[in-house]
Amino acid sequence: MGSKQKTAIVTGASQGIGAGVVQAFLDRGYNVVANSRNIIGSGAFAESSQLALVDGSIGETAVAAKVVETAISRFGSIEALVNNAGIFFTKAFTDYTPEDFKALSNTNLEGFLYITQAAVKQMLAQKSGGSVINITTALAVNPISGITASVPMITKGGLEAVIRSLASEYAKEHIRFNAVAPGPVDTPLHKDNPKEFLKTLTPMGVVSDVNDIVDAILYLTEARHVTGEVLHVDGGAHSGKW
Ligand SMILES: NC(=O)c1ccc[n+]([C@@H]2O[C@H](COP(=O)([O-])OP(=O)(O)OC[C@H]3O[C@@H](n4cnc5c(N)ncnc54)[C@H](OP(=O)(O)O)[C@@H]3O)[C@@H](O)[C@H]2O)c1
Repeated sequence: MGSKQKTAIVTGASQGIGAGVVQAFLDRGYNVVANSRNIIGSGAFAESSQLALVDGSIGETAVAAKVVETAISRFGSIEALVNNAGIFFTKAFTDYTPEDFKALSNTNLEGFLYITQAAVKQMLAQKSGGSVINITTALAVNPISGITASVPMITKGGLEAVIRSLASEYAKEHIRFNAVAPGPVDTPLHKDNPKEFLKTLTPMGVVSDVNDIVDAILYLTEARHVTGEVLHVDGGAHSGKW
């Protein structure tokens, strides 16, 4: 890093991948604004001179605005945004309800849209580039028979498509847009799924640790010439049949 301390925003930060990303950014000397619906009450982190916590559902415009305002008022700039907040569940395509679709769209898509718009406005004003990373999934390009995730994939597929458009739109300003696409990761999302079953979802027969995903996020955050990429960290699950 340069001499000036950089600031990163992480959504969905109270547990799992998001909490790992917050800790990794703090360890590297970044200032961090961490958000989830209940990050303060979760006890995952304590506020500090380097860390601000903002409660609220990131799909609400007011919460997105508050997260960005907090970054600017507390730390003075935004260099990186990790759109990690996400919900996921499976059912037969015909069983997804309008409420399911609204919940998936609200957290996964609106939770990306409003905060990314506000963060990009700030990055444009700073005139020193920036990094935005979406967290998607290997299932977006390679569905697995029996994992009936069609409607969540509308959102994850969209999050992969939009980075290509935005990588092109903001290339000249050096604001970079990438995605990390995990396979199964050992987080509370899978607390009810046996590890032996999760291992069957990758050709390598592995379940990733949070740190496997965090390493990819850190790489893309600082890879100054990489934009429009989807980095799969999935034991090979984005291609082929096994
Ligand atoms: N684990 C996997 O195997 C896996 C695989 C592929 C992709 N992913 C993706 O990776 C990301 C993180 O997954 P994870 O396994 O770490 O999930 P997780 O353990 O379920 O944690 C999700 C986090 O998101 C927060 N959150 C949920 N809804 C939110 C909202 N509306 N606004 C703000 N924060 C919200 C939760 O905190 P609150 O309850 O306090 O809001 C929590 O901190 C997700 O986008 C997921 O789709 C995970």
